[in-house]
Amino acid sequence: MESVQSIKQRFGIIGNSPSLNRAIEKAIQVAPTDISVLVTGESGVGKESIPKIIHQLSHRKHGKYIAVNCGAIPEGTIDSELFGHEKGAFTGATATRSGYFEVADGGTIFLDEVGELPLTTQVRLLRVLENGEFIKVGSSKVQKTNVRIVAATNVNMFEAIKKEKFREDLYYRLSTVDINLPPLRERQEDIHILFRKFASDFALKYKMPTIKLTDDAIQLLLKYRWSGNIRQLRNVAEQISVLEQNRTISAATLNSYLPSGSSNLPAVIKTTKSESDFSSEREILYKVLFDMKADLNDLKKLTMELMKAGNAKDVQKNNETLIQKIYGEDEDKAEFDEQIQDLEILSISDNASNTSQPDVENTKDKYHFAEEIEEEETLSLHDKELELIKKSLERHNGKRKLAAEELGISERTLYRKIKQFDL
Ligand SMILES: Nc1ncnc2c1ncn2[C@@H]1O[C@H](COP(=O)(O)OP(=O)(O)O)[C@@H](O)[C@H]1O
Ligand SMILES: [Mg+2]
Repeated sequence: MESVQSIKQRFGIIGNSPSLNRAIEKAIQVAPTDISVLVTGESGVGKESIPKIIHQLSHRKHGKYIAVNCGAIPEGTIDSELFGHEKGAFTGATATRSGYFEVADGGTIFLDEVGELPLTTQVRLLRVLENGEFIKVGSSKVQKTNVRIVAATNVNMFEAIKKEKFREDLYYRLSTVDINLPPLRERQEDIHILFRKFASDFALKYKMPTIKLTDDAIQLLLKYRWSGNIRQLRNVAEQISVLEQNRTISAATLNSYLPSGSSNLPAVIKTTKSESDFSSEREILYKVLFDMKADLNDLKKLTMELMKAGNAKDVQKNNETLIQKIYGEDEDKAEFDEQIQDLEILSISDNASNTSQPDVENTKDKYHFAEEIEEEETLSLHDKELELIKKSLERHNGKRKLAAEELGISERTLYRKIKQFDL
């Protein structure tokens, strides 16, 4: 049997804390079996390498490995993604399509964020787990598949079960073996090694000398909470590697990259800006830009759904969680309901004029409200954003691709901003 150390090397896993080693050891042990495994742990702790290890060390290693992010697929299409559909099963189903469970026959499926699965999908999943049977959407034919399932979650499943968002029977089926990855703050001995590894990777990537932490910066690194775990540590290492001229990093400099507690934007924006404030503002602006990008992606997803379905009410019903995520519960939601009403009227008149394919040019106006929300948020950030973009472009000698990467926005968006700000 391969040793924990060699597995870590093979999969690029850094760290040597007992809890990490135990998790890897468990993965090695269950790999040759077909037992379902549930990987648990906060976001960013490194859950994704566990199913890869399991697949690679199993007799299925020559079969397919498919990773599905259950939280990223709209509720209305997830059954079809996972189990496939028959031609004509719904509007737009112009051909029969195989789902992941058919494609991965003989292999492994990784269901990431499994706690996000809609209840109806949970019923289908339970059936596959119990006897390998599934039915395509819109079909009545039972099909067989032989798939090993590894799932992961960062939510408390017992709470989800209590709130009746997750089926208890499915939970027990999925978690025959539970592999837990503890948060980074509970693996203190790994923090500095990880940081050094990331710092040296980014030095190589950006062709700059490796950053080095002073002793008190190391102390800060160790006692910080790291609520985003290794993903956050990696991001911080990358930002500092890219942005700091002085390659010896003091505690004060490091601190300016660490959001303290639940930092909220307005308080920071109000402060008059001095050079030393700038990094933490930048950090927050990155986050804001990032969040906006995520919101925008959610909106895009919803818009696609609306265009495909042509019936706003159904889309609303099938995407309740997504809608709530984008619009929140309160006034926004009421506003959204109003917008949906308007959309309903528009789509009815669409049908009347007998266009079965949605007309994209026409639909644009109807989704106008999505753009409005973005504009509003952008406005208050206008000055800061302008400055950020200028600096980033300077740093990269006007290379838009690199600047966009650093800012965490798409090149297209950056291009639009350059035009908008007349840079
Ligand atoms: N032990 C580790 N050594 C090196 N990189 C790691 C380690 N754990 C996580 N990472 C990196 O941190 C990031 C987040 O890991 P990921 O598996 O996506 O987290 P999760 O799925 O738990 O949210 C990835 O870039 C991953 O490569
Ligand atoms: Mg993940």
